[in-house]
Amino acid sequence: KFEKAWLTFGIGALLVFLTVLGVSAFYLGNQPPSCLVTIDPAKVDTTKPFNEPGLKKVEGKDWDYELVFVASAFSYNPASVEVPYGAKVKIMATTKDVVHGFQVAGTNINMMLEPGYISEYTTTFDKAGEYLILCNEYCGVGHHMMTSKIEVV
Ligand code: CUA
Repeated sequence: KFEKAWLTFGIGALLVFLTVLGVSAFYLGNQPPSCLVTIDPAKVDTTKPFNEPGLKKVEGKDWDYELVFVASAFSYNPASVEVPYGAKVKIMATTKDVVHGFQVAGTNINMMLEPGYISEYTTTFDKAGEYLILCNEYCGVGHHMMTSKIEVV
């Protein structure tokens, strides 16, 4: 005779769960964190900070450095960059033409670079060595040659 009560409790709990999930997804706008900011792909070269790709020390922010990458078929600018060991780095990347990938081998950094959007990822490189950056979105005949390198020293 308790079956009915338990069944009611079970369905009630399910409804509460679905409501919470629904509210968090649609009302609070919980979305995967990438491609938050827009940019005109034709003006990448003259838009800050993409007019100066590479590593830059910053003050008064939650991170120590900004590392800017511009992707275009079939390379990244910069093609190689040194990052100080243990520094907190905000990676900011975009593309001038088609969709490219931005995967840092050996880490969990794996972004998609879409024309018109800025992809960001903040991380700390706490292991010295070379990190290969790969394009994992097929972008044309030179796709397989499209790489860059982060050297943590
Ligand atoms: Cu760029 Cu594949």
